Amino acid sequence: MSFEEMWAELLPIGRDETSGGYHRFAWTPPELECRAWFRDEARRRGLAVENDANGNMFAWWFPEDGKRHDAVLTGSHLDSVPGGGAFDGPLGIVSAFAAIDLLRARGVRPERPIGIAAFAEEEGARFGVACLGSRLLSGAIDPARARALTDGGGHTLAEVMHNAGLDPAAIGPDDDLLGRVACYVELHVEQGRALEQPVGVAGSIVPHGRWRFGFAGEGNHAGTTALGDRRDPMLPFARMVIAAREAAERNGTVATVGKVAVVPGGVNAIASSVTAWLDARGPADDAVRRTVKEIDEAARVAARPHRVCVEFAEESYTEIVDFNLALRDRVDRALDGVPVLPTGAGHDAGVLSARLPTAMLFVRNPTGVSHAPAEFAEPADCLAGVEALAAVLDDLARG
Ligand code: GLV
Ligand code: MN
Ligand code: MN
Repeated sequence: MSFEEMWAELLPIGRDETSGGYHRFAWTPPELECRAWFRDEARRRGLAVENDANGNMFAWWFPEDGKRHDAVLTGSHLDSVPGGGAFDGPLGIVSAFAAIDLLRARGVRPERPIGIAAFAEEEGARFGVACLGSRLLSGAIDPARARALTDGGGHTLAEVMHNAGLDPAAIGPDDDLLGRVACYVELHVEQGRALEQPVGVAGSIVPHGRWRFGFAGEGNHAGTTALGDRRDPMLPFARMVIAAREAAERNGTVATVGKVAVVPGGVNAIASSVTAWLDARGPADDAVRRTVKEIDEAARVAARPHRVCVEFAEESYTEIVDFNLALRDRVDRALDGVPVLPTGAGHDAGVLSARLPTAMLFVRNPTGVSHAPAEFAEPADCLAGVEALAAVLDDLARG
């Protein structure tokens, strides 16, 4: 299967016919279909499929001497944000299979195992915590907390994993698996317009996190309740959205409220509660922390006159990631020099960098759009990405 054929197979899975956006949430039917595709592609190539306890999947090309450790891992994720693009995640996995095909066609015999990973729930679109699979694998999240995470329908991660045939009691750090991996190199579509050449390499990931605000008021009739009698949670919520923009402008960060749940959600009813999720990122930890603190304060000040209660919780936070310099230099040398750029997007490579050397290759995105249907990379740039990944894997797998 060529890159184009693999891409064409994945393309219809989980795509909304009207918007063209993807809905591939962890362990939902479209994502399970992507997982089946992954297993088929691995088996087609004689790669050994390994499922870990955390819902992550691996496809291994072992060297002829049977060596199982000191592996070079590549890959990405198959899940998407709601209404996401086709490239964020799958590009890294399709490119990895295509890179292995290229190496084999050239007669390369790796001295170290080469693995392709498909990490679970990277976007955190279902259970709220981004990079959940790599966080569990590397010990960056408490398994008990993870088991209790709930999706929008009230189903816990434990329940969903159990229904998918996994044992939720077994989730957590896997030092045996990580101990077999020497480094991880993730190829990803660029998510801005900063890359002017087909391929670049990541320098750093900015600090970023997610916070949940709960505004609890009192549901009531939209026509018969006098303004002075209302406890309308929508008002401090609205103020909080504006405060997020203002705090981001003051602190040189970005802050976004992209998800909100209104209960009960009736046109002619004052809401009883509003839950809103804040995503904040910036060049330094203190700027991000200050931004979030200012938004929280603004929400509380706005809630008081309306007798609305505010709850606030951090759902995930990732400190600045500076990618391993020695690995980045080696990648750069294997590619004869490519641009280095920082990114405002989170990745499993960032989470795993706490445990092993990681690096990222970016493929140019001419629109700069991501997490939306217009996300795009030119076919020629995708093939340049495959060539680059093959060159990097070839170099790293030589020992
Ligand atoms: C993942 O793509 C993120 O940056 O949220
Ligand atoms: Mn993403
Ligand atoms: Mn991604």
